[in-house]
Amino acid sequence: MAAVELAENVYWVGVVDWNVRDFHGYETRRGTTYNAFLIIDDRTVLVDTVKHPFKEILTKNIRELADLEDLDHVIVNHVEMDHSSSLSHIMQQAKNATIISSRRGKDGLTKYYGENEWDFQIVKTGDELELGSRTLQFVEAPMLHWPDSMFTYLREDRILMPNDAFGQHLATSQRFDDEVDQSVLMDEAAKYYANILMPYAPLIVRKIEEVSKLGIEPRIIAPSHGVIWRSDPGKIVSSYLEWSRGKTEKKAVIIYDTMWGSTEKMAYAISEGIMAKGIEVHLFQMRKSDLAEILKEILDAKAVIVGSPTLNSSMFPTMSAFLNYATGLRPKGKIWATFGSYGWGGGAVRAMNKRLTESRFEVSEPSLRIQYAPSVEELQKCREFGERIAKEFPLSKV
Ligand code: FEO
Repeated sequence: MAAVELAENVYWVGVVDWNVRDFHGYETRRGTTYNAFLIIDDRTVLVDTVKHPFKEILTKNIRELADLEDLDHVIVNHVEMDHSSSLSHIMQQAKNATIISSRRGKDGLTKYYGENEWDFQIVKTGDELELGSRTLQFVEAPMLHWPDSMFTYLREDRILMPNDAFGQHLATSQRFDDEVDQSVLMDEAAKYYANILMPYAPLIVRKIEEVSKLGIEPRIIAPSHGVIWRSDPGKIVSSYLEWSRGKTEKKAVIIYDTMWGSTEKMAYAISEGIMAKGIEVHLFQMRKSDLAEILKEILDAKAVIVGSPTLNSSMFPTMSAFLNYATGLRPKGKIWATFGSYGWGGGAVRAMNKRLTESRFEVSEPSLRIQYAPSVEELQKCREFGERIAKEFPLSKV
């Protein structure tokens, strides 16, 4: 895809990765993009590069607008390889360019790509770079997404390039938010936040406040993945604040796995009890479901209910993988509950509760265990279990 103009002499020169389906474990069923930007002024600047297999497309897109030999600066907002693995290729041609990055950015690039003769310019929050008629301003943003991350702001055009923040894994032939289906866009933005940025929620709130105090009021937010927010950049900022502050809906997510159907019967009966109280429920059998999609549903759910049969005195391996992933992402303000079936000694519920409490999540409702297959009376107990969880929901949205 050829370069696309964001503002006068400011261009998207990135690539669309239609076929990526596994982004370090995150199932990207709609692909992604690696966004890079070219700013042409008295000085010519490339902001970020792309994943290595696409380096020739990036080079072609830049060459439509400028010679690589004329690049003065290559800004590396983030070291992760989806953005930096074409850097060596670009720098081989951009003989006169300096690399601009955070201190940790330089350390990371040197570790990944070895000692070399690149000229670095280290920047920190508040530093500026005059390009001629325009100015770049830098804001360090550690842990959004890695310690090296930073935002670059093109002040006169009010374009914020925050790299991973505000992104979506969404491959489209359109480049802007107003050109795509809004429900798909927000679905992918929420999934991206839940699976990549959720552990850093407190930092996100503070960073948004800091950016505002610096007088940065973007007209366009151009992240490094997905479409560019130009019609209403405030929409994604507000969503990030809501997600980061743990806003939840009247919604429960049940995640379970099953061996011979008993835990599944329990899951369905529990869902009936919750739904009877007017609460939205999403059910996922772990072996048939996509982790990234589950985490997206958990993002704004008030209750997370986890079920497993006992296998070898512990939980089912898929449920162990789920809890490992979900607790690492640290979803905030949830009601957690566990249930499961067993044959003789049991152990799944105990193992799930241990995992949750070790991760400092409180299991609010006494767990429900049923031997072999649930009887009619036991299925009724499952419904009542669901109803009791529903009663813990606040009367209004929080
Ligand atoms: Fe898109 Fe943290 O890399």
